[in-house]
Amino acid sequence: MEPVIHIEDLAAVYPGGEKVFFEGKILVAPGERLALLGANGSGKTTLLRLISGLMKPEEGKILVFGRPPFANFDFVRDHLGVLLQHVEDQLIAPTVEEDIAFTPRNRGWPEKKISEAVERTMRDFGIEALRERPVHSLSAGERVRVALAGALIARPELLLLDEPFEHLDPQGRRETNELLGNLASSGVSILLSTHQVNLVSEAADKIVVLAPGGRLAMQGPPEEVFGRSEELLELRIEPPILGDLFHRLKRPVPRTVAEAAEILQRPA
Ligand SMILES: Nc1ncnc2c1ncn2[C@@H]1O[C@H](COP(=O)(O)OP(=O)(O)OP(=O)(O)O)[C@@H](O)[C@H]1O
Ligand SMILES: [Mg+2]
Repeated sequence: MEPVIHIEDLAAVYPGGEKVFFEGKILVAPGERLALLGANGSGKTTLLRLISGLMKPEEGKILVFGRPPFANFDFVRDHLGVLLQHVEDQLIAPTVEEDIAFTPRNRGWPEKKISEAVERTMRDFGIEALRERPVHSLSAGERVRVALAGALIARPELLLLDEPFEHLDPQGRRETNELLGNLASSGVSILLSTHQVNLVSEAADKIVVLAPGGRLAMQGPPEEVFGRSEELLELRIEPPILGDLFHRLKRPVPRTVAEAAEILQRPA
């Protein structure tokens, strides 16, 4: 099957001359969840900007749905849901309800279809009570929920999430993780960046670790990447607790606490 995202030896330059490299290859298949890990400034947000067509690549290959995203901004945007790292940058309508309706309205959906979709989405995200609220009055976690609802209302095929767990309480993180799992099962591809190493084994099928400067330092399923604690520390990434523990025990790293408990209770 054709990958949803295909990136190869990419480089981008900011107006001030700052150059960010992505040496190597990243492929995202339909229904795959890929997580980007990397220290501050390693290029996670830059890569998401390149994929969403907001930034022009300087070198290399980037295809989203088989097309270069910068030159096909409208096409790519029609199939994309985005959660920005600073959510306040994307919450622009006066009220929550109007904000969630923004994408469908922008795409010219009929009003009846818009209001049905808004109701369904607000219910799904448990944010009906926030309907009339000005977005600037929301708590940090509420803003993330509203932005995520707005990103998903038009049922995108690809979801880009820059630090989706930031500001969410533990229950909100679990719910978001569950939601991402369900979306992926229904065929939605997900690319997320995060510093939350302890959540990522459940949130992603594959992990890409960026080294400072944007080099693709590691790539693989969580149990493989998290078995390499020393390398992660060199890349300024704290290994997840399970990864660190099972690495010290010299045993394969499980994905979940439940899996770990089951392994540890097995007779030796
Ligand atoms: N608007 C900009 N102008 C100039 N340089 C930028 C700009 N945005 C990012 N950079 C630089 O590009 C590099 C990658 O930054 P980026 O924001 O992609 O990192 P990140 O991995 O998302 O970091 P964080 O974990 O802090 O969110 C950094 O060196 C950063 O200083
Ligand atoms: Mg970032």
